[in-house]
Amino acid sequence: MGDLRRVLLLQILLVSASKAQMPGFISLDCGGSGEFTDDLGLDWTPDNKMIYGTKASISIPNENRRQYTTLRYFPADNRKYCYTLNVRTRTRYLIRASFLYGDFDKSNVFPEFDMSLGATPWSTILISDAYTVESEELVVLASSPTLSVCLSNATIGQPFISTLELRQFNGSMYYTTYEAEFFLSLAARINFGAESNDSVRYPDDPFDRIWESDSVKRANFLVDVAPGTERISTKMPVFVSTGEIPPEKVMQTAVVGQNGSLTYRLDLAGFPGNAWAFSYFAEIEDLPPSETRKFKLVIPGMPAFSKPTVNVQENAQGKYRVYEPGYYNVTLPFIFSFGFKKTNDSSRGPILNALEIYKYLQINFGSQDATILASFAAHYPEADWAQEGGDPCLPAAWTWVQCSSDSQPRVVSLILSGKNLTGTISLELTKLPGLVKLDLDGNSFTGQIPDFSGCPNLEYIHLENNELSGALPSTLADLPNLKELYVQNNKLSGRVPQGLLKKNIIFNYSGNMGLHGKSNSSNHTIIILCSVIGAALLLIVAVACFLCTRKKKKNYSKENVPTAPAKKLSSYLSEVATETAHRYSLSEIEDATMKFERRIGSGGFGIVYYGKLADGKEIAVKLLTNDSFQGIREFLNEVTLLSRIHHRNLVTFLGYSQQDGKNILVYEFMHNGTLKEHLRGPGHEKIVSWIKRLEIAEDAAKGIEYLHTGCSPTIIHRDLKSSNILLDKNMRAKVSDFGLSKPAVDGSHISSIVRGTVGYLDPEYYISQQLTEKSDIYSFGVILLELISGHEPISNENFGINCRNIVAWARSHIESGNIQAVIDPALQDDYDMQSVWKIAETAIMCVKPQGLQRPTISEVVKDIQEAIAIERRLQPDREFPAEMISKKSMGSSVNLDLADMANSEHNVTFDELLMQPGLR
Ligand SMILES: *[C@@H]1O[C@H](CO)[C@@H](O)[C@H](O)[C@H]1NC(C)=O
Ligand SMILES: *[C@@H]1O[C@H](CO)[C@@H](O)[C@H](O)[C@H]1NC(C)=O
Ligand SMILES: *[C@@H]1O[C@H](CO)[C@@H](O)[C@H](O)[C@H]1NC(C)=O
Ligand SMILES: *[C@@H]1O[C@H](CO)[C@@H](O)[C@H](O)[C@H]1NC(C)=O
Ligand SMILES: *[C@@H]1O[C@H](CO)[C@@H](O)[C@H](O)[C@H]1NC(C)=O
Ligand SMILES: *[C@@H]1O[C@H](CO)[C@@H](O)[C@H](O)[C@H]1NC(C)=O
Ligand SMILES: *[C@@H]1O[C@H](CO)[C@@H](O)[C@H](O)[C@H]1NC(C)=O
Repeated sequence: MGDLRRVLLLQILLVSASKAQMPGFISLDCGGSGEFTDDLGLDWTPDNKMIYGTKASISIPNENRRQYTTLRYFPADNRKYCYTLNVRTRTRYLIRASFLYGDFDKSNVFPEFDMSLGATPWSTILISDAYTVESEELVVLASSPTLSVCLSNATIGQPFISTLELRQFNGSMYYTTYEAEFFLSLAARINFGAESNDSVRYPDDPFDRIWESDSVKRANFLVDVAPGTERISTKMPVFVSTGEIPPEKVMQTAVVGQNGSLTYRLDLAGFPGNAWAFSYFAEIEDLPPSETRKFKLVIPGMPAFSKPTVNVQENAQGKYRVYEPGYYNVTLPFIFSFGFKKTNDSSRGPILNALEIYKYLQINFGSQDATILASFAAHYPEADWAQEGGDPCLPAAWTWVQCSSDSQPRVVSLILSGKNLTGTISLELTKLPGLVKLDLDGNSFTGQIPDFSGCPNLEYIHLENNELSGALPSTLADLPNLKELYVQNNKLSGRVPQGLLKKNIIFNYSGNMGLHGKSNSSNHTIIILCSVIGAALLLIVAVACFLCTRKKKKNYSKENVPTAPAKKLSSYLSEVATETAHRYSLSEIEDATMKFERRIGSGGFGIVYYGKLADGKEIAVKLLTNDSFQGIREFLNEVTLLSRIHHRNLVTFLGYSQQDGKNILVYEFMHNGTLKEHLRGPGHEKIVSWIKRLEIAEDAAKGIEYLHTGCSPTIIHRDLKSSNILLDKNMRAKVSDFGLSKPAVDGSHISSIVRGTVGYLDPEYYISQQLTEKSDIYSFGVILLELISGHEPISNENFGINCRNIVAWARSHIESGNIQAVIDPALQDDYDMQSVWKIAETAIMCVKPQGLQRPTISEVVKDIQEAIAIERRLQPDREFPAEMISKKSMGSSVNLDLADMANSEHNVTFDELLMQPGLR
């Protein structure tokens, strides 16, 4: 028995020794006494650097974690107590603070106090149970090299803290366009279908997020569960390598609604508010191919959320892969009910693996003088008063500082009397435009008195009883509001400036051996009494000062006030937003493409080049023409949009590069070129199998269906054509060139310049310039006609004497019942006529002159699937043609000699437009 225990202990030691702690982790054991590594492999350090507060030990039944046996508490006064953590700027972190009261003060009064991150109020900590750990988490983008967590404003008991944890993120899961102005405050992070009540965290989660088990029972946490909800799990690996999606262990369990629905209700602390809310799905059941799992989100009272359909396997591009749809900004109530409901055509009920909800917490940028005061305090690393940390003004001012009550306060007084300060008076103190009172008396300051004209609001200056030398600066006389000036008992010399002597102020300069005033009055305090002449002079000075302050005030409000946030915004734009997607360096792209050597196509917005990354991955690199985007912001917005679109029938967006004025988008490389080439060449063999053409049509339609129905807001492609349908190694089709257009709902951006390619362009759109999903349907109808006939959309030869357009030509034949006339001879009668008819009818519906008469893309998908079913039913020997064809194409050598992948963009001319049906 003892041996076994020793072996186990040894194993635990070995496991923890072999775990390398993640970089960017800080785990502070507040009130602790030494370093240690816990059972999870996290390295804890005591908070020895904290010079304030008192350590306490507590003992709680069943709580063995060492970090929860100690805490640090602080006096309940009106100041704040801050921990300062070193971070890397422009890096995202998780910050977690936890509190276990344990009756440390033997009063059994549950404390209530505030916690802030810098100047931003984070949370009110309200202890409601002596034995339960309370914790709070934020996701933040560090904008400076330190983060300060401060406790203040105890309304009951004394503020205290048990642990403070910092975890550095690596990717961009938590990127939002708001992150320069908002933190994310955790409201829920749930592991559904969990196998025990234990949370999943480090080392399962490399970022040590805590995924709470859905089997935990507490008030208003995951109640109203739908009947038929079952827990499932798998031991199969789930692919989670990208970014910060939940760890495998979380994704390996899920709940499924066997009766068609999943429903839950939970309270969201801190809400109502605006939330970042994401759900995580992975298909972890082995469904037979005939089964589908499609469902919609249901939020009672909010029907708009039910629009997109989730089809986990398709969205995630396979089983055991993660799909993470969510909302970047959604308003949620405190009592939050939600569910998922299967669609009518789905054979299985919904699945849910994990969920995360954060509340947007507006950042308070704090005092405008924060940087100046921080660098001033940094001159005194030994002094207690200089270690208070956080913002000088918020949420409570430093003990030696007083601030104005603005939302971005200014420092109005500095009180550092008798602090034993040495050296010269720091120039930082002359850069505080709001400063009214400066008390530096009773120190050992040496050197000259600096020029305080940067502090035009100064009224009271106490510099007495120091060792200041040199002359009194004449600029002191220019301070328009000066009321009292004390410089007695220093080592000043020279003449007292005339201006000062003439000012109506309290002025004491006695006790300076070398300093000579005009008057030899023995009274140390000289009040200048005004003679008639003096009064006249004063009036002039006053008027001059008034004018000069007015001018200064103007400058001050113009320059100083808005710069701080504006600066933050611009640096955010150029450096931070770019983390959304993988960023390639220009040299990496140049190496990969051998300096843009091999052009493989040109499409909307730019030219496409072939590339091969250092790791062997083949890529398609689109070099955007310079005028494609108005500016950096627009480009980054597009990149952000692209990186959110995932579907197995859409070409995968891999990242971007932006350097030296070049805007570059990087996509997966599609080995088999375009559909256009496979219908008419050059470079690829013609597809002669009708079912293969149908499968390509189905793939493409599903990609479009995702853009139209699975994205919120809806995305309209605007340039569908056979050269934008690409084929991968396995001859599966994916739609390309999507997303480089504004989402549909953004009405203001639907440009009045018609975009599209002649032959595919919806005539109704051209005339009305009103873009809808139905314009894509028109273009897709043209593609279906190409698949049937093999012809290109515009031709001088193929469509007879008076017709150059495939739509008019096909319509006249099909409507007169002569379908044979339009079928591609290359198909060699190897098709079922009924199946071709089905597609021909669908195509004719798609190219109806009015959008309203055209079907939706989901209806088109259904028609294509029916045509496939007809074709397969009659040819049982070809039950899995996709696999057959993919094996064949993988066996033969892949033709890498890439010809032009895409058509050049046409400009629509009036002549060409006349060829469009409906316009003649
Ligand atoms: C201190 O807490 C009380 C009660 O929570 C709150 O009303 C008050 O606004 C807080 N004061 C500050 C300065 O935050
Ligand atoms: C963080 O990123 C680096 C470089 O991209 C990678 O090597 C490392 O594995 C990542 N860590 C995690 C936990 O994803
Ligand atoms: C989880 O804890 C609850 C009590 O909070 C208990 O009733 C339940 O059985 C536990 N579930 C598991 C799976 O351990
Ligand atoms: C759930 O479905 C099962 C099987 O279809 C059925 O027996 C059961 O009554 C259903 N439960 C509810 C509450 O609808
Ligand atoms: C979210 O949307 C609301 C309403 O449209 C808007 O007021 C708010 O600024 C947005 N952003 C955040 C972070 O709340
Ligand atoms: C699904 O079925 C229900 C009940 O039969 C019906 O009310 C609803 O309209 C159907 N929805 C769709 C999208 O067909
Ligand atoms: C003042 O500072 C000096 C050296 O900087 C130190 O020796 C002395 O003890 C300090 N006096 C007080 C009262 O802090």
